[in-house]
Amino acid sequence: MLFGAIQAQALGVAAELRIPDLLRDGPTGLYQLATATHTDPMALERMMRLLVQMGIVAESRPGKFICTATGKHLQAESPSSLRNYTRLTNLEMVLHVVARLGRSLHTAESQFTALHGKGFYESLPNLPAEAAIFNGAMQEISEQDIIDMRDAYDFSRCRCVVDVGGGQGHLLAALLDDYPGLNGVLLDVPAVIAGAGAILHDHVAGGRCRVVGGDFLQSVPAGGDLYLLKRVLSHCTEEQARTLLTNIRSVIAPKGRLVLADPDPASLYGASFDVLMLVLLGGGLRTGKQLKELFAAAGFAYKRTVGTSGELQLIEASPA
Ligand SMILES: C[S@@+](CC[C@H](N)C(=O)[O-])C[C@H]1O[C@@H](n2cnc3c(N)ncnc32)[C@H](O)[C@@H]1O
Repeated sequence: MLFGAIQAQALGVAAELRIPDLLRDGPTGLYQLATATHTDPMALERMMRLLVQMGIVAESRPGKFICTATGKHLQAESPSSLRNYTRLTNLEMVLHVVARLGRSLHTAESQFTALHGKGFYESLPNLPAEAAIFNGAMQEISEQDIIDMRDAYDFSRCRCVVDVGGGQGHLLAALLDDYPGLNGVLLDVPAVIAGAGAILHDHVAGGRCRVVGGDFLQSVPAGGDLYLLKRVLSHCTEEQARTLLTNIRSVIAPKGRLVLADPDPASLYGASFDVLMLVLLGGGLRTGKQLKELFAAAGFAYKRTVGTSGELQLIEASPA
């Protein structure tokens, strides 16, 4: 654990340099890897030794490396790729805020905002390279989230789903594919929904889907009977969370449902994610009690928690 930061950084660099991709065709020599990655062979060898110990690569013969089953998750074209997610959590601007965790413990505020004077999401449109990695990471985690949510939750009773902060629409597209009677609305900031066209094109053309660029802290599209917040409420500060839920409450159908999908804080992944949300965004996961208080303040009542086979749990609420 003590060396967790350096191991995470080795993962990030391996993903960035595409080392697992370079090993796709079988055993590859150190010098060949160094040439392809424009790195110093002796320095690279030291990182490769660490990656061997971490189980990302294996040394099949002295000086020849292969990619392990775990390492394949860092290959760009792998169906279970987490390459961009790994790059995202190892971006310099993310590591800078992680190093300031102690400060967040005193202020309970985002170190990104403290360092840059504006929030992470406000800054992304001016950081195209980082935004591309962020969007790629969201797509990667969505692939597994979608499988887990489809299995865990019955969307068939729903008429119109509004995916609030729905990224580029991967979840919404999957739900519209699954349920031919369902309509949908995607809301995200304009810079993000610019990439949603290709993903939702057929559903938009068929009149079953609308794509809205906007700010969920200002307003949320009306007309939905299911409002979905996947990996969104955990990214909000208390004040933002209350505003967002109040905005949804003002437009949701009287018998509508609100579904939050976020990691379970009582897991190692959830607890790590929670602390990252604190330093990066001033947000975080909420306990059952905290959620009930938040729901009550925004005019919702907690209904139930539905587990999934993956990282997420689904929390359902309805207008009080
Ligand atoms: C962590 S991502 C989750 C995306 C998607 N729900 C998923 O799980 O893949 C949070 C999303 O909220 C969007 N977002 C953040 N602040 C927003 C705001 N004020 N209004 C609309 N969308 C916002 C971001 O652009 C981003 O796409």
